[in-house]
Amino acid sequence: MSEYLRLESLGLAERGHTIVREINLSFAARRTLILGPNGAGKSTLLRLIHGLLKPSVGSVRWTEPLRQAMVFQRPIMLRTTVFKNVLYGLKLVRVGDGERERRAHEALERVGLAHLHGRAARVLSGGEQQRVALARAWALEPQLLFLDEPTASLDPASSREVERIIGEFADAGTRILMTTHNLGQARRLADEVVFIDEGRAVEQSPAADFFRQPRDARAAAFIREELL
Ligand SMILES: Nc1ncnc2c1ncn2[C@@H]1O[C@H](COP(=O)(O)OP(=O)(O)OP(=O)(O)O)[C@@H](O)[C@H]1O
Ligand SMILES: [Mg+2]
Repeated sequence: MSEYLRLESLGLAERGHTIVREINLSFAARRTLILGPNGAGKSTLLRLIHGLLKPSVGSVRWTEPLRQAMVFQRPIMLRTTVFKNVLYGLKLVRVGDGERERRAHEALERVGLAHLHGRAARVLSGGEQQRVALARAWALEPQLLFLDEPTASLDPASSREVERIIGEFADAGTRILMTTHNLGQARRLADEVVFIDEGRAVEQSPAADFFRQPRDARAAAFIREELL
């Protein structure tokens, strides 16, 4: 696939503390997984790319503008029904009334929550709320979906369900940029892996190569510890 995004010397410092260090990367894969230890700068990098944070140096260059959505580790639910939570995201972009409802219904079907559409979103389980967040993203028909540790608070069954939905996005042609701690999950989902350590992108490899033999020593150590 062709390049859609390039990071040029992208960096972020907060009060003298460097969080992301001059990252140069180009992205072309369908599903890129960002791996690295706690505090490496994965979430910050994702937020910089999505435009939620402004870089201190360097730039984020899109080959073409892409419609984007983001899902976080902890879903943010409005104090209303599941259906209205999904509709709300569509009110922010310009989608007509009938089309909005159609898309919201279709999105809830996708994530397997159509039967809960009238339920108060905040009383749902964590796994169900995350699926509402994914439905909200689905309704936006993103060309690029950002996911920041979307299963970190979920049990294995809910995590697998979220992985299934991420697979559906990819099958529908959505590009995926996602962080995770879970090596098994990265193995199941990634076409490509970017390994981040202390704010640096120390390796970018096709997933098969990365999991067979990472080039970077820190990435190798990370995999060894995860497998212990
Ligand atoms: N606004 C901020 N001001 C100062 N330091 C920050 C800020 N945001 C993040 N940091 C620090 O930057 C580092 C990277 O944080 P980040 O959340 O991006 O890491 P991460 O790789 O996502 O970690 P985790 O795996 O725990 O989610 C951490 O040391 C964090 O404390
Ligand atoms: Mg994080």
